[in-house]
Amino acid sequence: MSGERKYRLGVLGSGKGSNFVAIADACAAGSVPAEVAVVISDVAEAGILDRARERGLAAQFIAPGKFRTKLDETAEAAYIRALQEAEVDLVVLAGFMRILKGEFLRAFAQRVVNIHPALLPSFPGLEAWKQALDYGVKVTGVTVHFVDQGVDTGPILAQQTVPVLAGDTAGTLHARIQEAERVLYPAVVAALARGEVGVQGRQTVWGMKG
Ligand code: GAR
Repeated sequence: MSGERKYRLGVLGSGKGSNFVAIADACAAGSVPAEVAVVISDVAEAGILDRARERGLAAQFIAPGKFRTKLDETAEAAYIRALQEAEVDLVVLAGFMRILKGEFLRAFAQRVVNIHPALLPSFPGLEAWKQALDYGVKVTGVTVHFVDQGVDTGPILAQQTVPVLAGDTAGTLHARIQEAERVLYPAVVAALARGEVGVQGRQTVWGMKG
């Protein structure tokens, strides 16, 4: 076994954890050169915590505090502390349904990434697949981006299109989007772990190394 330190991921999620599973399994298989150091959820019974524990990974519920859409000050400090104690190099939002701002983003400057189930800047915010269906677009998709102070506004790392098919329901479209997520997110995390992507202003620059 080599003594080389692995790139460490802190994963935050509120839901069932399919993106987390794709990333964790890619780490275990060696296609993402990283390890999951900790998984944290704002929902005590979230599936993502069960999926982490099944894999023998550290999993923690941290109460979000008194607000509905963001962390309160005490919670924000607890999230920062847990991620710092786990010595994470990258914070990976995988269906984390709270807005992160201020102190949190300063603590992990340009080290927080998110996956959004639409082609940003179209359809930011909640239930983006439903927004796309209601609008009537023929193509939607998936965006992986750095997180900044806005909602779904940070520099874009990668996007993948997904067609909207005749007869799609919110459920069938979201399922097709999630299939694309499970491929795109591990690929972007692998590139970040390898140091292959940088950011200059709003542009992300690929192919920096190797
Ligand atoms: C994913 O589809 C992700 O894109 C979305 O939540 C789902 C989480 O699924 N995120 C957002 O809508 C963020 N605004 P998962 O728990 O199975 O990974």
